[in-house]
Amino acid sequence: MIYQIYPRSFASSDGPVGDLPGITSRLEYVASIGVDAVWLSPFYRSPQRDHGYDVADYRDVDPMFGTLDDATALIDRAGELGLKVIVDLVPNHTSDQHPWFREALAAPQGSPARERYWFREGRGEDGELPPTDWESVFGGPAWTRVEDGQWYLHLFDSSQPDLNWDHPEVREEFDSILRFWLDRGVAGFRVDVAHGLAKDPTLPDFASHAAMIAGLDEDAPAGPEPMWDRDEVHEIYRRWRRVLDEYPESMMCGEVWVGDDERRSRYVRADEMHQCFNFAFLSSPWRAADIGGVIAASLAANDAVGAPTTWVLSNHDVIRTVSRMGLSETGKGPNGLFASDERPDLQLGERRAKAAQLLMLALPGAAYLYNGEELGLPEHDHLPDEARQDPAFERTGRAEPGRDGCRIPLPWQAEEPACGFSPSGQTWLPQPEGWEKYAADRQEEDADSYLNFIRQALAHRAHYRLGGASLTEREAPEGSLVYDIGELRVITVFTGSVPVPEGWQVLFASAPVEADIGPDTTVWLRRS
Ligand code: GLC
Repeated sequence: MIYQIYPRSFASSDGPVGDLPGITSRLEYVASIGVDAVWLSPFYRSPQRDHGYDVADYRDVDPMFGTLDDATALIDRAGELGLKVIVDLVPNHTSDQHPWFREALAAPQGSPARERYWFREGRGEDGELPPTDWESVFGGPAWTRVEDGQWYLHLFDSSQPDLNWDHPEVREEFDSILRFWLDRGVAGFRVDVAHGLAKDPTLPDFASHAAMIAGLDEDAPAGPEPMWDRDEVHEIYRRWRRVLDEYPESMMCGEVWVGDDERRSRYVRADEMHQCFNFAFLSSPWRAADIGGVIAASLAANDAVGAPTTWVLSNHDVIRTVSRMGLSETGKGPNGLFASDERPDLQLGERRAKAAQLLMLALPGAAYLYNGEELGLPEHDHLPDEARQDPAFERTGRAEPGRDGCRIPLPWQAEEPACGFSPSGQTWLPQPEGWEKYAADRQEEDADSYLNFIRQALAHRAHYRLGGASLTEREAPEGSLVYDIGELRVITVFTGSVPVPEGWQVLFASAPVEADIGPDTTVWLRRS
């Protein structure tokens, strides 16, 4: 079980933004949940245009988050508590403040410094049109023009120029960055936009929005996409794997938004990554047939390459599970909510989220929790527009709310200013009213709290070694899923109700169970 920490929003030792000493001070709490490792979203030197996913120096900590010594202290403390530390690697693009990009801008057209990125002439009479029709994931064109008339490619914000991974120096630099952090004791990397590094060098037009999800954009023309999931990307991961193999027990997990199971499983072949996120599970509507189909297909695809599956329901890019599950559409949905959008039914959402988490935590493979998911935090679904900071909000002309609503500073102590997030009582995004009811200290004291539900689930998961167990799907009544996983039987009821089967007794459940298991409930049973 890996626990994702979003450093800006986890805990702060001073001001409005979370920091590394804040994280270190809360690691005991993290260990108490029963997780094995933490993954930290980026804390490197960065102008924070995309909140750290725009890196200006891959080998230093942003002063906002602390110092390199603070990073070492964090890794050491985690080690004492038996937690591994995984850091985020952002190889698709740098910040526009990275020395390489500054050098490229200062250098003339056609110079070697520009070859580390994607600089091209524009189209039209005076090159006034972008070189291709590609759109940025955050909205607007994927090209920005520089003073001398050339354009550079950025699949995300204009402050995030894409690196040219065909360039040997780019490859060498990242080998060295991997070693830099492995030498400092990290256990591995979560690889940002892992399916995007290789581009078709002929840069053909695409006639589609550059959706992050390869093969899932309904408007995309058939055939390979010029920027997502290209075959050449795998050479990069083979190369990195050789570096990681020098460090025993190190790992990497790719952020791979690829819809096709077989294509996605290629990233976890024996000589590539150890894990890649299975976003099909997160994106699936809360329906027995959909979820059951995703589980079966994901296990089959990964079994075929001998890799474990990776399960995730939440992260810093999607609507928090409790809110998503309380919407009429329970699939991935939009990247956030406006106050004018449909109100999530939080009671229903919480019931379903618990059922989904308990199902996820039973499945063999690695599972990920996003900070606050163990507290049952909902999305901040009515942030005032002036508080929004995600570049996607402005880049889409305010049509998309962006991802701020899942990044609200965490509530620790109900009675403290900012719910104990920072001693100054300041927070970089406003916490919604009523946030204190989710505070960790309140939940500690309540045996029936969300936090204690997750803790118990993780304790049982460890005890029954479910992560490494084998799974057999059983015939299930309509509207439910039934699995034998290790010694346990796991039943999720989506609709209707299912009797507790003969010969089995309830070990743990996401909602009260009598003789029947009711809707939106997962139950772990052991033989009676
Ligand atoms: C990934 C990150 C996201 C970031 C984007 C660009 O999708 O998870 O937060 O904005 O990459 O780096």
